[in-house]
Amino acid sequence: MKILVTGGAGFIGTNFVYYMVNKGHEVVVLDKLTYAGGKDNLEPLGDKVKLIVADVCNRDAVKDAVKGMDWVVHFAAESHVTRSESDPELFYRSNVEGTKVMIEESIAANVKKFLHISTDEVYGSTDGALFKESDKLPGDSQASSAYAKSKSLADDLAQNFAKKGAPILITRTTNNFGPWQYPEKALPRWVTNLLLGEKIPVWGEGKQVRDWLFAPDNAKAIEFVLENGKLGEVYNVAANNKPEITNKMVAKILCKSLDKDPNEWIDYIPDPRPDHDFRYAIDTTKLESLGWKPNRDPENQFPETVKWYQDNQEWWKKRKAEAESIYKK
Ligand SMILES: NC(=O)c1ccc[n+]([C@@H]2O[C@H](COP(=O)([O-])OP(=O)(O)OC[C@H]3O[C@@H](n4cnc5c(N)ncnc54)[C@H](O)[C@@H]3O)[C@@H](O)[C@H]2O)c1
Repeated sequence: MKILVTGGAGFIGTNFVYYMVNKGHEVVVLDKLTYAGGKDNLEPLGDKVKLIVADVCNRDAVKDAVKGMDWVVHFAAESHVTRSESDPELFYRSNVEGTKVMIEESIAANVKKFLHISTDEVYGSTDGALFKESDKLPGDSQASSAYAKSKSLADDLAQNFAKKGAPILITRTTNNFGPWQYPEKALPRWVTNLLLGEKIPVWGEGKQVRDWLFAPDNAKAIEFVLENGKLGEVYNVAANNKPEITNKMVAKILCKSLDKDPNEWIDYIPDPRPDHDFRYAIDTTKLESLGWKPNRDPENQFPETVKWYQDNQEWWKKRKAEAESIYKK
């Protein structure tokens, strides 16, 4: 297949690009290379991947890029909740307007399948009940942050185009972790702090729950949806970790992976966003009914991720100072 991957130089996009290139697909990445996009992520793939540096809002560049593509997988987005609070306009532009341009030009170019990457954050926080795909229809929104609101609008757009018959698939995914995640996000921030001999700041009591999904498993789930999903449908993708994994548990696992005593290395700090979503949880029955199974293995996947950051210090050291600067504002 000829696949255009937007945001393919970012965290999940890079994991997906490696997976699909290794499967023998012809992959082209369209990425603006914001602070979160790394040309160096893709360099080891050499000429197995082509990189187009462009904004998804740039209609002419998008028109050219989608020509002749079988599939478009649309990851490109501003993705960090903390940054979204200080620059919501940028999030609206890239995440909502960019999605509109991507879908319109993909339809005009007769792309066979357009997969929009959405998030569990469009459902909002839950007190424990699992959200089903039908719990967020166009116009519904429990999304709380400026990031989640922009993703919710982008999700609405994709659903509306799908209703009009466009060949669209949507995945709503839980928190990913794994290689190539920019160290502004909690897990790589914590690991890299520990590797630098610094404590890890856990917000509040660390009781927040995220259904941590290993990014390489998400790549497989996306491939599965592309191959088996019904056009026009939305699919939740989650690890379904049981028991639930709290942030405090993640912090402890990371400490243990590096032989550090959690009592000494975890710093519980006042939650800078006390009203932020406490728990996300989604139901994956719809995707499982097509034959997909989550491949959760947190005992091995968290240490494997820690090892990646140990082995790739040059990669994250270039990014660490900028990533930390946003917490000092
Ligand atoms: N990280 C998660 O846990 C998670 C969970 C659910 C859904 N998602 C969604 O998955 C997608 C990828 O997330 P990520 O964590 O890999 O993000 P990321 O921030 O690591 O990467 C985003 C990529 O998009 C590119 N980009 C940003 N704005 C662009 C624009 N206007 N034009 C072209 N490229 C642009 C960046 O350069 C970067 O390479 C996003 O749509 C995000 O909402 C992420």
